[in-house]
Amino acid sequence: MKQARMTLDRDYVVGRIDPRLYGSFIEHLGRAVYGGIYEPGHPEADEQGFRRDVLALVRNLGVPVVRYPGGNFVSGFHWEDSVGPVDQRPKRLDLAWFTTESNAVGLHEFADWAGKANSQVMYAVNLGTRGPENARDVVEYANHRGGSRLSDMRIANGRKDPLDIKLWCLGNEMDGPWQMGQKTAAEYGRVANEAAKMMKWVDPSIELVACGSSGSGMPTFGDWELKMLDECYDNIDYVSLHRYYGNQDGNTPSFLARSMDLDDFIHTVVSICDAVKGKKHSKKTVNLSFDEWNVWYHSNEQDKEIWKREKWGPALPLLEDVYNFEDALLVGSMLITFLRNADRVKIACLAQLVNVIAPIMTRNGGGCWAQTIYWPFLHASKYGRGTALRALVDTPVYDCADYEAVPVIDATATMDDEGGVTVFCVNRDLAEDYALGIDLRAFGGMKLTEHVLLHHDDVKAVNTEDAPMNVAPAAGPGGTVDGGRAEIRIPALSWNVLRFEKA
Ligand code: AHR
Repeated sequence: MKQARMTLDRDYVVGRIDPRLYGSFIEHLGRAVYGGIYEPGHPEADEQGFRRDVLALVRNLGVPVVRYPGGNFVSGFHWEDSVGPVDQRPKRLDLAWFTTESNAVGLHEFADWAGKANSQVMYAVNLGTRGPENARDVVEYANHRGGSRLSDMRIANGRKDPLDIKLWCLGNEMDGPWQMGQKTAAEYGRVANEAAKMMKWVDPSIELVACGSSGSGMPTFGDWELKMLDECYDNIDYVSLHRYYGNQDGNTPSFLARSMDLDDFIHTVVSICDAVKGKKHSKKTVNLSFDEWNVWYHSNEQDKEIWKREKWGPALPLLEDVYNFEDALLVGSMLITFLRNADRVKIACLAQLVNVIAPIMTRNGGGCWAQTIYWPFLHASKYGRGTALRALVDTPVYDCADYEAVPVIDATATMDDEGGVTVFCVNRDLAEDYALGIDLRAFGGMKLTEHVLLHHDDVKAVNTEDAPMNVAPAAGPGGTVDGGRAEIRIPALSWNVLRFEKA
């Protein structure tokens, strides 16, 4: 069997893992809200119309924070439309997704849903068609204790206690020509800075995420980060990054290597943040919020057909990617990449959560099920807590169409607060099993308590409502641990979770 080696030590540390690394995202888009989390009249609907079966799958994922209400949607959104008596809320055309927004679910309802999901709201303000004053208004509405016009409006709308939203996004993808209110870096930086100041004057306890460029492939990338940070560095806390990958040309080895691009992207943005810090002689470090990431390409053609057939319908079935097994492997490698960079990536949001490029799917009036990508996310969220370890990995590499020297064994490790160690590992080899030797001597006597394996013989295998466990975790082959040295069999094309505890 081919060999790879990993060395771990409790003193080789990347940093503490912020639980918000396992965030997600619900946008008013497609069937994420209407027909996703919310379906009054469904047999599983609770008294507010939220689907209990969906909530159970979300709670199981352990998502500490959910970004809301967009996305592109937020750049034309009027938050005032989404509060107050539901029957008086306006229906609006949404120019981001060419649908009609009923506002039946708004700020109060979503905050209630997030509470039921054991999550916090990460709220995005509209800096596309609106500006700083409107942004500070919604902070006052949501977070001020009362005794002012907007906080009293919240109380009159049925919520005495502040919503206490701690994390706020200053707009969304503001360099994108598809965005309502697109801006240059300097324009955005100025607006973001003024909004940030006023929002923090209303509530100094909040944290703010400024828009980075909407992707590393954008012509604006790099210069955008430099210029906008130059304007708002002192008043913001995180820079936002977004990245989606696809396998349009059907080249699995190249597709599975895309997490190397993710790693480069993170390092580049970290360098820019630190360059601006240096330029400003600042003591403050700006960290990263990777608040949209996933695989996204399966539904692209289908969406064009939907829009040809019917623009402006409510809850059109948009961005409904059906994920296959190889997508789950890349999602696993993306999670490994975030853990390797956990010292600077403090927030990450799997985009999105339900129906729209999502780990959870529903049928209107029917069931809900976990897509393939649900599993690596669940495992990382459940076991990848505590401290990210700096794993030394010695593995064969391969070259492919888009990348050189791609590690066959993509692996990292975390240590929980009880001293348990978890290794996350993707074997990118299409055909060969590997023997992974893990040097754990620095931890004293350890035993392998669990090997969780996600594998399917067909990289294109998917889960459906009728076959929801077609791609699902099972017990892996495990291996031996002797004198602090483990040797574990890692099957070809697989996602693995190895859990070690004190013997
Ligand atoms: O997540 C889907 C869309 O992708 C979001 O609305 C936007 O921010 C990004 O382009």
